[in-house]
Amino acid sequence: MTPSSSLEILPTSNLRNSSIPSQTPTAAGQKLRVVIVGHVDHGKSTLIGRLFYDTHSLSAGKIEMIRKASEAEGMEFEFAFLLDALLEEQEQNITIDTTQLPFRVKNREYVIIDAPGHQEFLKNMVTGAASADAAILLVDAVEGLREQSRRHALLLAFLGIKQVIVAVNKMDLVAFQKARFEQIRCEALDFLAQIKVEPQFFIPISAKQGQNLARLSSDMPWYGGPSIVEALGDLVLPTLPAQAPLRFMIQDIYRFDHRRLLVGRIEGGSLRQGDEVYFWPNGKRSRIRSIEEWNVEQPPGAASAGESIAITLEEQIFVERGNIASHAYEIPAIHREITASLFWLHDEPLLLDKPFILKLGTQSTEARLVGISRALDSASLQLTSQQPTQIAKNEVAEVRIRTKRLLVFDPHDQMRPTGRFVILAEKRIGGGGIILRYPKNTQAHAPASAHLVWSTSRVSRTARLEQYGHRGAILWMTGLSASGKSSLASQLEWHLHRRGMAAFMLDGDNLRHGLSADLGFGPRDRKENIRRAGEAAKLLAEAGLVVICSFISPYREDRRLLRENCAREGIAFAEIYVNAPLNICEKRDPKGLYKKARAGEIPDFTGVGAPYEPPPNPELELCTSEQAWEECLALLFKFAESFAAPPHPDLPRDLDSGSGI
Ligand code: ADX
Repeated sequence: MTPSSSLEILPTSNLRNSSIPSQTPTAAGQKLRVVIVGHVDHGKSTLIGRLFYDTHSLSAGKIEMIRKASEAEGMEFEFAFLLDALLEEQEQNITIDTTQLPFRVKNREYVIIDAPGHQEFLKNMVTGAASADAAILLVDAVEGLREQSRRHALLLAFLGIKQVIVAVNKMDLVAFQKARFEQIRCEALDFLAQIKVEPQFFIPISAKQGQNLARLSSDMPWYGGPSIVEALGDLVLPTLPAQAPLRFMIQDIYRFDHRRLLVGRIEGGSLRQGDEVYFWPNGKRSRIRSIEEWNVEQPPGAASAGESIAITLEEQIFVERGNIASHAYEIPAIHREITASLFWLHDEPLLLDKPFILKLGTQSTEARLVGISRALDSASLQLTSQQPTQIAKNEVAEVRIRTKRLLVFDPHDQMRPTGRFVILAEKRIGGGGIILRYPKNTQAHAPASAHLVWSTSRVSRTARLEQYGHRGAILWMTGLSASGKSSLASQLEWHLHRRGMAAFMLDGDNLRHGLSADLGFGPRDRKENIRRAGEAAKLLAEAGLVVICSFISPYREDRRLLRENCAREGIAFAEIYVNAPLNICEKRDPKGLYKKARAGEIPDFTGVGAPYEPPPNPELELCTSEQAWEECLALLFKFAESFAAPPHPDLPRDLDSGSGI
């Protein structure tokens, strides 16, 4: 480390009027983990030191101590020394390869991850020892983007870190010139676009002088954006494991007395006695009869993330090791193909197309690489070859993996424990990876061109949920014509709207006036109609709305495809069977269509000339011919409200009584 020429240390009082933002208060323990990357000389240590200093995250004596030590050695004080001092402090309790430095601004807690090298960082990310939610990419204003900056940016792309701040440092050395900043910004944006990294902020800073770190700079009046601390406050926090969707990973099934105990660990979310849970990949469901814990007299009524528990079920359904249980909403992705970042550690390379064993939690399946799009050497971050066919030791690669059995998982940026996996080589861990994404819509419709790129919204589902106070969801009502679907749907839409919820009804007859105007009523056309309706509903649910769909949707297979499609994309989907016998519907016949069908005027009318396949396992069934209309409405309203409610462990989640399930 070279001694610096000059340094202005700001007295604390100067920071009083600084523009530290009022950040959203967060639950205790919820931390944003930020990794700082960039070329070795571009000021990483100074940035970290100064950030800690300016946010008052250092003990009072620390700075004085370092100042004295620097003076004693005839060197001027430098903020980078602070980092060294912080690191020394941490040394005793380092258990992994990265150092993690906590600091706090207003009500938000951060952890700065400082890895000795990217290899260690990569290893920690894929094994789960330390993973980052966001990154600051540091670029020197004098030198601009260097080879190492590019490789580090590539590393972020590999790891799927989507929240990126680019900080152009040492602005003091370029006379705080806007033109220089803009030049670097354009160059960086160009490169980052190529590797699909979309930075949220570009901030000109001088780490050494503390400009645009915790306080806005007076030397760069042309800059109207946030400071580093403000930008950090704007980034999205990861969901706490207990607030995350339920993921209960089954380890084993025991018979004990006459009871059948499902034993496992809750990796995310929470569950309670009486909850209805689904077991994936096969989607069987049951209510939880009891939660058992070893060596306790009074069995607990609830359990949450991090706990190993055993449960018993009300129904005797088939469950096996490797299954993951979730609630009806926010179910995991279920797929045979994933795109992942893989880090290979074994001496023997991992070859394209050669079978191996992949383990994700308690799931284990044979799998193979079906594509390697990029492979990098983890030390140099150099691309290894244009068309790699293997991944050698210490290489990291973006790969497509196909599994023999259906894999239940979440993309790593949504849920870490179910988003990473290991690969076995000769029964030992040969490498690990994190799941970046999975193919969209593979079963429904593959896109017509291979040159289409999915762009991800910056507004997360959680952000929309916070805005509306409920999740986006699809309530799919199926049943015969005149069973009561449209009337129920319309009343539900009105009810939810009056309760301040964002709800929208999609109706079969309406859609057939526009989006499906070209379709008839043969099986193929109906299939396409349901696919289009499903896609439209998915878009609206993604926008945060409760979408109430009313379609005859007579074919079980079409509804199953839709359910799977939603499951893959993590969209809450519930099937509501509006059940009324054909003779009653025919008697009601509000549109006079049954009459026409019997007269042979509508040849393929559902129930007369075309089949209706009732759902064997709907989330809710309403018998409009047996139950009073008010009762049906009450059940429907209650179900819809609970289904759209955010899964928060502290909120009542009352799906139990009266839902008719
Ligand atoms: S679906 O089968 O493709 O789901 P959808 O719900 O969109 O049907 O449309 C059903 C509506 O279309 C009915 O409510 C009815 O008004 C009208 N309709 C016209 N012809 C038929 C038919 N052959 N079968 C069923 N409904 C028909």
